[in-house]
Amino acid sequence: MTSILGIVGHPLGHSLSVPMHMSAIFHLGIDYVYMGFDIMPGTLAHAVDHLKGEHIKGFNVTIPYKEAIVPYLDSVDEHARRIGAVNTVNSEGGRLRGYNTDGTGYLRSLKEQSGFAPSGKQVLLIGAGGAARSVAFSLLEAGTERLIIANRTMEKAVKLAENLASYFPKAGLRPLPVDRISTLPYRDISLIINATSVGMKGAQHAGIDGLLALLGGSMALFNKDTVISDIVYNPVVTPLLKTAQLAGLKIHDGTGMLVYQGAESFRIWTGIEPPVDVMRQAVLRALKEKH
Ligand code: ATR
Repeated sequence: MTSILGIVGHPLGHSLSVPMHMSAIFHLGIDYVYMGFDIMPGTLAHAVDHLKGEHIKGFNVTIPYKEAIVPYLDSVDEHARRIGAVNTVNSEGGRLRGYNTDGTGYLRSLKEQSGFAPSGKQVLLIGAGGAARSVAFSLLEAGTERLIIANRTMEKAVKLAENLASYFPKAGLRPLPVDRISTLPYRDISLIINATSVGMKGAQHAGIDGLLALLGGSMALFNKDTVISDIVYNPVVTPLLKTAQLAGLKIHDGTGMLVYQGAESFRIWTGIEPPVDVMRQAVLRALKEKH
């Protein structure tokens, strides 16, 4: 019998996960299907019951249900529990278990694509939302020594830093208003991550200009080994990455996180090594066609 995989979210119109996972399934020739489940707000509990009844093998969870799904699962693994959000659900003996592969996928892509190892490093993370939170936990779990969290809304950066400190009391954690990043000692920072929506196609350009002015003007001061990473994947080369490229710095684009979080989910569901390059090509193709 065909095993069913999918993605739960709302709205799902822009999801790249369907072509990405279907390309892996076709490539491997396995008896699986991956489909979109657009779940109307207020009907999540019913939908999860239904999916369980249909013997679904597993599914991704996206906006706006990553946190809301937790109470409906039978168990949640430790990493996802700490983050408080689940992006992957796997049916294990008929029971639904939640995982979060956003941060772990992000780190894996960073390692594969730019050779970056977080242990002992100093990292500047811009953003304090859901994506930043997953990335922050993964970085600290992998031994990042010092993490500066810069955010437009300072209270959110403080809250995230305090929460992280309760799990990682030895890590150096520093919340910072984003308009103060130009005061940082850039030479000591090995990795700068934009984990905000700034730079996304169609987003407000005021944010892009601000971030570029703050970081772009100082890129000549950076150590040449510094990696500039963006979680925004549309466009693939964001204005921030373009500036970094021109300054001769290493860049890591947002398709990395998208593809590797999917690859990690695929591995959890199927136990098969995911064909990462095939998945990346499918994402790039879909981005070209749809956006
Ligand atoms: P996600 O789940 O994708 O992380 P989110 O939780 O809504 O989405 O977080 C969005 C992040 O982008 C936040 O850090 C947000 O900053 P605030 O906490 O101040 O809202 C940041 N962000 C969005 N638009 C921004 C802009 N124009 N300038 C600076 N930061 C912005």
